[in-house]
Amino acid sequence: MGTGKGFGKTILFGEHFVVYGLPAIASALGTYTTADVKVVEGKGWMVDDQRPATPGYKKKKFDEAMQSITNVIEHLKIDVENQKLEITFAGDLIAASGVGASAAQCTSLARALNDTFSLNLDDEKINRAAYEGEKAYHGTPSGIDNTASTYGGLIWFIKNLDGGKNTMDLLQTPKKMPLVIANSGITASTTELVADVRKLKEENPKKFEKIFKDYNHLAVKAKEALLEGNIITVAELMNKNHALLQEITVSGDINDKLVDIALNNGAIGAKMTGTGRGGLVISLAETEKIQDEIAEAIENAGFDAWKTMIG
Ligand code: MEV
Repeated sequence: MGTGKGFGKTILFGEHFVVYGLPAIASALGTYTTADVKVVEGKGWMVDDQRPATPGYKKKKFDEAMQSITNVIEHLKIDVENQKLEITFAGDLIAASGVGASAAQCTSLARALNDTFSLNLDDEKINRAAYEGEKAYHGTPSGIDNTASTYGGLIWFIKNLDGGKNTMDLLQTPKKMPLVIANSGITASTTELVADVRKLKEENPKKFEKIFKDYNHLAVKAKEALLEGNIITVAELMNKNHALLQEITVSGDINDKLVDIALNNGAIGAKMTGTGRGGLVISLAETEKIQDEIAEAIENAGFDAWKTMIG
């Protein structure tokens, strides 16, 4: 028997852009998915998924989740011909689109298999195994979700498009920043959205060149602002990042609605986070009192809201 955990995450800057080698900034959440692995007689593996989840999430992601488990088991070369694995997923991370639930599941499984079979894997190898799992969700994952899930903390991430080592720097911000995460309740398909962006980019190369340039500039400024603890600039840049995500068509009406609710109730910055067209919206508050007010307004509008701190 072995156990492992993987953190959830929120992308502060750069979802979708990160797939193309542009920098992104993500923060791990305090909540996580756990995996328990029990070895029994028989062959193959079975899963008991006890994770709390947004209604419909597990059904929509079922096939991809099963494939991701296969990928992790195969990558780690675990023998499932002469023994059977009973895998249980649980934890306090609410599985929803945008929260890095798939990566948290893959990371927790890699850690639990490491524990069960005493594989002696370091974090880099755990991260690599989780990345193989993430490939089941779309062909070209940037790797930011599994990296945040494995290492935790606030990270600056650049995917190495040549297949070499990705850039990952842990950032320290001197100021704790209150964040509200609003859940649209809609589960989006990362596979579909990443493919849509790729198609749009191929059809409009000039437009994307300009958007990518603008985004790159914004990401560098966001890193500086986080390092300085300049919450106002971080918030302004979140608003700008949201506008760029609208331009590449990944922000849906529901995301824009949640952004408006947050901004109309005291948030200084708000944006969709993760895949988009549903999923989650994050907003930044200057104080914990305002954070409470934003969360209340989101709940009054009929959506779930979670509060967390960045930094
Ligand atoms: C999904 O959480 C983030 C995306 O940028 C996909 C990826 O990075 O692989 C949409």
